[in-house]
Amino acid sequence: MTERYKNSEAFLDRALKVIPLASQTFSKSKTALPFGVSPYFVDRAKGSRMWDIDGNEYIDFVNGLACVTLGYCDPDVDAAVRQQMDSGVTFSLPHRLETEVAELLVEMIPCAEQVRFAKNGTDATSGAIRVARAFTGRSRVAVCGYHGWQDWFIGTTARDLGVPPAVKELTQAFAYNDIGSLERLLASYPDEFAAVILEPMNSTYPRDGFLEKVQAATHQHGALLVFDETITGFRYTTGGAQQEFNVTPDLATFGKGIANGYPLSALVGKTEYMKVVEDIFFSGTFGGETLSLAAAKAVLLKLRREPVLQTLQLRGQKIIDGVNQLVASLAMAHVVGISGHPSWSFLAFKAAEGFSAVEIKTLFIQEVFKRGIYSLGTHNLSYAHSDADIDRLLACYQEVFGLIAQSVSDGTLRTLLECEPLAPLFKVR
Ligand SMILES: Cc1ncc(COP(=O)(O)O)c(C=O)c1O
Repeated sequence: MTERYKNSEAFLDRALKVIPLASQTFSKSKTALPFGVSPYFVDRAKGSRMWDIDGNEYIDFVNGLACVTLGYCDPDVDAAVRQQMDSGVTFSLPHRLETEVAELLVEMIPCAEQVRFAKNGTDATSGAIRVARAFTGRSRVAVCGYHGWQDWFIGTTARDLGVPPAVKELTQAFAYNDIGSLERLLASYPDEFAAVILEPMNSTYPRDGFLEKVQAATHQHGALLVFDETITGFRYTTGGAQQEFNVTPDLATFGKGIANGYPLSALVGKTEYMKVVEDIFFSGTFGGETLSLAAAKAVLLKLRREPVLQTLQLRGQKIIDGVNQLVASLAMAHVVGISGHPSWSFLAFKAAEGFSAVEIKTLFIQEVFKRGIYSLGTHNLSYAHSDADIDRLLACYQEVFGLIAQSVSDGTLRTLLECEPLAPLFKVR
């Protein structure tokens, strides 16, 4: 038992008896958190701070896997939810909020002419694929990035257990910024692809007109282009990555930050395609649940009223610049680098001097957690992160990167680990 995490470790034993992996979300489970140096359960969070069940305080850079964009317990969102709660949650008829939030999305997102709501990002991406298959009368899907847990996507990953071969056969992956990989895929099955779905960006910026070329190749093939903006939406710009990069897809999916942690996702797109939703089956008991819609309305209005995303951009750029300076001053570019958008940036650890990337990342996690920074290597910023929070992060990195650089070069890294290194996780991006 580890003194700092003793309540977490004891509760983990209890939870594991009744919950596989003791978590509803793979990336929040013990699979992602090295045992002995990690918390496993949260008590509460407010603004940019999170407290685990041992009372340890962290500045949280994970933010509910990037669904919290304004900060925990945002007062505007909380007030809107409390007000809605007084008149009910889920009803026997659609509520006005469905239309009001749909209208806001249509105003804000370039490709959005019509909208349908659901709960998880996976619901929206799966809805998009159903629409594309129904519209085109075709079955194949080309994917690039992560799109959720359903058969049609997860069958392309190493976590494909339980997905029938017949389903797996219909989805193939192409590589980001490699237009040739998509063109070859489309050419191998003429007229068979219903959809090309991709994260318009995750860790790397699109190069050489990649998104425009994807759009052209997709349309030439007769398929629909779907941007999965589950993370980029309401994080990059108020109209998503499609607005930032000026490429308008046929359909797009949103989730995560749309409601600052309340469960809501949206499938949006041009009416021509969205009309198909009247004929397919895309429907759920909780699609019109109003606490999340009230939260979304408060989020969207705040995004328009206040410099939320400009602030994320500014603070995030400070992280990228700070990390780059640190890496240069410690001459450790062969060990770690940083990439991605300021609002959602990624540290990438590399195998170096006989140490695996996973061993180095495990030491990173152990040491930042100790210092009250909650990050697994990404910086999912929220509006609640203050400039002082970023200074604290960079001061922590100065110590931890120094430790990593030193122990990699003198060969002592393994002796600093107070835990087993993480098992390599299945990679989706
Ligand atoms: C780009 C992207 N698409 C889809 C999903 C699936 O969303 P959810 O986990 O809400 O089903 C995620 C979740 O991480 C995601 O990042």
